[in-house]
Amino acid sequence: MRVFFVPIIAFVCCLCFLQPGSAAGEKSGAEVFESLKCGVCHKPDVEVPAGFSLAQIAKAYQTKDKLVEFMTSGFNPIMESEKKGMMKGQMSKLTALGKEEREALADYIMKFK
Ligand code: HEC
Repeated sequence: MRVFFVPIIAFVCCLCFLQPGSAAGEKSGAEVFESLKCGVCHKPDVEVPAGFSLAQIAKAYQTKDKLVEFMTSGFNPIMESEKKGMMKGQMSKLTALGKEEREALADYIMKFK
């Protein structure tokens, strides 16, 4: 009877290996960006009425470290905008992230430079 379990266990293990990272609960920067719905207001390279493009953000920040600093230190925007309030309301999502997810997100945004 026990022999039937072997292929099942092997199968489950394979599934874990097929999705690297997800078993450990880690997300890629793109996944974090997606799950926090940042894309509603920030598109890769077009400025939409709601917010700056990721390319504009990456150019203004220049380094990933500066972007991570923005995400962790309250609300301290460096870009000129009359719509600050819209981003302010998003900050709690960023401060709630784990260190690794936040770094992955910053890495993802910097790729658009
Ligand atoms: C409701 C729309 C909206 C959403 C959702 C949103 N943002 Fe923003 N974001 C804005 C606006 C508007 C600005 C420009 C305001 C400002 O910073 O002066 C901005 C600015 C920024 C800036 C530049 C801040 C600066 O220095 O001026 C960064 C970085 C940023 N957003 C990242 C994110 C990330 C990451 C997410 C996902 C958690 C996100 N935004 C979600 C509207 C939004």
